[in-house]
Amino acid sequence: MESKNKILDIDIKGITPFINSRELELSLSKALEAFDTLTTRKGRGNDYLGWLDLPTDNNRPEQDAMKKIAAEWKLKAQVVVVIGIGGSYLGSKAALEALLHPFANELALNQGPKILFAGQNLSQDYMAELMDLLEEKEYAAIVISKSGTTTEPAIAFRIIKNHLETKYGKEEAATRIIAVTDKSRGALKEVASKEGYRTFVIPDDVGGRYSVLTPVGLLPMAVAGVNIDSMIQGAAKMREICMERSGNNIAIQYAALRNLLYGKGKTIEILVNFNPKLQYFAEWWKQLFGESEGKEGKGIFPASVNFTSDLHSMGQYIQEGERIMFETVLDMKHPAREYSVGNDPADVDGLNFLAGMEVEQVNKKARAGTKLAHIDGGVPNILLEAERLDAFSLGALFYFFEFACGVSAYMLGINPFDQPGVEDYKQNMFALLGKPGYEELAEKLKERL
Ligand code: PA5
Repeated sequence: MESKNKILDIDIKGITPFINSRELELSLSKALEAFDTLTTRKGRGNDYLGWLDLPTDNNRPEQDAMKKIAAEWKLKAQVVVVIGIGGSYLGSKAALEALLHPFANELALNQGPKILFAGQNLSQDYMAELMDLLEEKEYAAIVISKSGTTTEPAIAFRIIKNHLETKYGKEEAATRIIAVTDKSRGALKEVASKEGYRTFVIPDDVGGRYSVLTPVGLLPMAVAGVNIDSMIQGAAKMREICMERSGNNIAIQYAALRNLLYGKGKTIEILVNFNPKLQYFAEWWKQLFGESEGKEGKGIFPASVNFTSDLHSMGQYIQEGERIMFETVLDMKHPAREYSVGNDPADVDGLNFLAGMEVEQVNKKARAGTKLAHIDGGVPNILLEAERLDAFSLGALFYFFEFACGVSAYMLGINPFDQPGVEDYKQNMFALLGKPGYEELAEKLKERL
C-alpha cells in the first residue's frame, strides 16, 4: 500500500502484524465501492454533499467580505465571541488552537482580536465569567447556527445581544453582531433580518460537522488573522487527491484500514497527537466520526489522547487494558519552530547525551518508542503525517477526514449525514423545562427521575 501525495503520508507498518494482504485487498475493494457511492452521489443522505465541492467553489466575494469584517473589527474589538455548538463551533476552535500563538495576548502579538467561545455548553459559571471579561473589553460577536434554533447558542446569544445593546446602544450593537445561518429559515435568520445584522449563509447541502470550510469556520478564522485562502488551497489540493478512484488514494486507504480493524473487534479508534495544538482538532474529528458513524447499533467509537502528556495517564490502559482499540497518529514531519535541549555542566539528570538535539527529535523518538510498545501490546497503529502545522495543511486535513468519513460510513452501510439520535436528549430537556406542547412526555419522564 503506497500513497505519495506530498501533503499527507500514511504509514501502515504498525498494522501489518494484525492483518493479512488478502483481507486488506478485500477491504480496499469495499472502500472503492463506498467511494463510488459517495462520488456518484447515489448514497443515503446525498442531499448533504455540498461540502465535497466547497474548496473548488471559488467564492472570492464571500472570502473578501470576511476579510473586510476582520479588518473592520481589528480596529474596534479586542475580543470576538463566537457563539455556536457542535459543527458550528469545533472547526474554528480546532483551527485557532492549531494555528495561533497560544500566548499571543500576553506577548501583545496583535494577530487580531482574541476569539472566545460561547453557547458551546450550558454552564452558568462559564457564562458569568465570560461576561465579567466582556464587561471590561471592547467586543463583537459572531452567532452561528444552521438550524437557528439550537438551545445552547440561543441562550448565550440572548445574553450577549442584550449586553451589547446595553453597552453600545442598539444601532452600534447591530454592527457588532454577525449571524451565520440558513439563507431563509430559522429563528436566527428572523432576528438577523429584523435587527439588520450582516449575515453569511450556511449552504443547504452542507451539514454542521462538514461546514468548517464555509463561513461557519472561515469567518472566525479570518477575524483571528488566519490565512483562509491558504486553508482553502490546502483543501482544494486534498480534494484532487481524494477524488482519484484508486487503491492509492489515501482517504480510501484510511477508510479501508479502519473498517478492517473494526471487523476484527477493534471498536475504538484513538486519534493520537504529539502536539497539544492538535487537541481540538481531535475534538472536531471525534464529532465528525462519532455523529456520522455512530448509529444503527454500529460505528467505531472515536476517542483521542494527547501524547506524551497522556502517556502518563491513559498510556497504561492503552498498553495493557482491554484489547479493543487501535491508534491513528496524526503528526507533522516538521515543527514550525526550532528549540534544542540545553547542556548542563552538572548533568544531574544524566540527559547531557541529548544536549543540542531538537526537542522535536526527542518527541519523534517518543512517538516511535510508543508505537512499538503499543504494537507489542496488541494495539494496531496507523500513522498519518502532514508536512507542518499551517493553514494549508489544516485545510487539507479537514477535507481529508471529511472525505474519508463519508467513504467509511458508507462502508458500514450508514447514512453519514444525519444525526437522528441527537434529538432524544433535546426532547427530554424541553419536556423537563416545561416547554409548551411537551406536557405528556414531561409526566412520563418525571415518573422515572
Ligand atoms: O453536525 C451537526 O449537524 C451538529 O453537530 C450541529 O452542528 C450542532 O447540533 C449545532 O447545530 P446548529 O448549527 O443548527 O445550531
